[in-house]
Amino acid sequence: MAPMAVNLILGWWLVAASRAQQVPRPSLSLHPNQGVSLGDTFTLRCHLPRLAAWVWLYQEGGLSYYKGKEKEENAAEFFFVSTEREHAGRYWCQYRVSESAEVSMKSDPVELVLTDRNFPPPHISLHPEERVRTGTNVTIRCWNKDYGATFLLHKDGRSAPIQHLVPDDVGAVSFTLFGVTPADSGTYRCSYHPKNYSFLSSPLGDSVTLEVTPTPAPPGAELVSRGNLVVAVVRGCAAVLIFALGVFFVIDARSLWIGRDESLGGEGI
Ligand SMILES: *[C@@H]1O[C@H](CO)[C@@H](O)[C@H](O)[C@H]1NC(C)=O
Repeated sequence: MAPMAVNLILGWWLVAASRAQQVPRPSLSLHPNQGVSLGDTFTLRCHLPRLAAWVWLYQEGGLSYYKGKEKEENAAEFFFVSTEREHAGRYWCQYRVSESAEVSMKSDPVELVLTDRNFPPPHISLHPEERVRTGTNVTIRCWNKDYGATFLLHKDGRSAPIQHLVPDDVGAVSFTLFGVTPADSGTYRCSYHPKNYSFLSSPLGDSVTLEVTPTPAPPGAELVSRGNLVVAVVRGCAAVLIFALGVFFVIDARSLWIGRDESLGGEGI
């Protein structure tokens, strides 16, 4: 009895696996993939691993859109012009295969976070100071008393926010960078998600710049580097001396030649 049950389960699993394989999942991408502001245009592109007859785009708790496909394209694009607050949110796509009624599984979700410039940018400050030594704990404080619900810390040159925090009751957060290294040097800014709008974002606020200086080398290393310095100075002096000697000989040789030319010329006249 037991082997039969195993066979049944195995058989069911194989059928399920092959069906899932027949209609591979699409993937969804957002363009531009961040920094979309209210009123901007954006595109959601559903990448189709197989030829599809219909493609659906769903918004969580919102509208769904569909597109019939005729051409042999490997993606379906959904364009949005003049974005509104309602467009912010989480999206999925799904498709139906042309020759059958089979429907794929939904893609992984994509989140559209819209920047809404109606919200004031947050304030920022940095402690203890902008120039610190390696190993210091640095705190970046961001606040907006009226609107901020979750704060995000951004570093210039990084695409994604580096930290998220929920504020205390005065609407402020403190991001701590523990034991900073020179790699933490850079320009930092904050933004926040307003209360009740997890897919809206305030504009980025003012920046603070952190400069982390390396710790001085240990005394032993300093001795070694002093030794190196002496060697370098001696080498430099030797090079200058050799160069000066070279120049001297060239000038000397030239004056000899000129002297000879003149004496030759004198003979010619
Ligand atoms: C940094 O913070 C950690 C954790 O609070 C603490 O253990 C450490 O002593 C601090 N380091 C400095 C240099 O203040």
